[in-house]
Amino acid sequence: MYDRVMLIAQITDLHISTPGSANDRQFRTPEHLARAVTHLNTLAPRPDIVLATGDLVERGEPEEYARLREILDRLAMPLYVIPGNHDARGPLARAFADREYLPQDGGFLHYVVEDWPVRLIGLDTHVPGESGGRLCAERLAWLDARLGEGRGRPTVVFMHHPPFETGIRMMDEMGLEGKAALAEVLGRHPPVEAVLCGHVHRPMTRRFGGTVATTCPATAHQIALDLAPAPRLAVIMEPPACMLHLWLGADGGLVSHVSVIGGERPPFTVYEGGRWLRDADPPPAFHPR
Ligand SMILES: [Fe+2]
Ligand SMILES: [Fe+2]
Repeated sequence: MYDRVMLIAQITDLHISTPGSANDRQFRTPEHLARAVTHLNTLAPRPDIVLATGDLVERGEPEEYARLREILDRLAMPLYVIPGNHDARGPLARAFADREYLPQDGGFLHYVVEDWPVRLIGLDTHVPGESGGRLCAERLAWLDARLGEGRGRPTVVFMHHPPFETGIRMMDEMGLEGKAALAEVLGRHPPVEAVLCGHVHRPMTRRFGGTVATTCPATAHQIALDLAPAPRLAVIMEPPACMLHLWLGADGGLVSHVSVIGGERPPFTVYEGGRWLRDADPPPAFHPR
């Protein structure tokens, strides 16, 4: 048996905008985020923390961040945010000025959190005015130094743009600059547990820099899975989801689960209280909606 040591929830690509915007009309991003918050608050066991890995809002405007805060403030657990390509550093930092982890010096919004069984390193891949991301020499040197201070503690790195090509051509055209250099920096240190990303609105996994890099589904609209070489991009309302990264200690490691948000039928319990229920209780009849 094992003890749960830490449960890290991840939400991404919330894309909150102003009332009446296209995101409101087409993708209902605020309603979806509110559902995600309820989902996280009512999970049992409840996550210890939530990481929000960028594209928090659509255009980086203060009004959008105010609306975002209204919804995220209902979270029952600490929240750690980093910017995506749709964010803007100044308005984001000001909107979360009460979070002491977030730098307020006008520079990159990257930071380390040492308060939990797993050390958290948030990276800033934002490039103003661009859809792609970048880890420049300055940001990589910062990461190198922080990893060097780890003293072997379990660590996750989280950032918006995934450090790998996805096979979805249009997303790769707005990918990350500095992938190889990041792999090199990661390779110089004891392996981190995972690199947790967003941006592509789908779950993906790849071996990277001596660790595992994953991406998280979005809280509202997903990107259609299209692996054709032609440059096409479509949005699809597949079920919104978050990820639950379960840290089971040094031996158990970090296990990453996708957790679908809302709309699903209630789970049908088959084992509880030390016994299998399938023989004792007939399964409920399912009726199409
Ligand atoms: Fe996004
Ligand atoms: Fe993005």
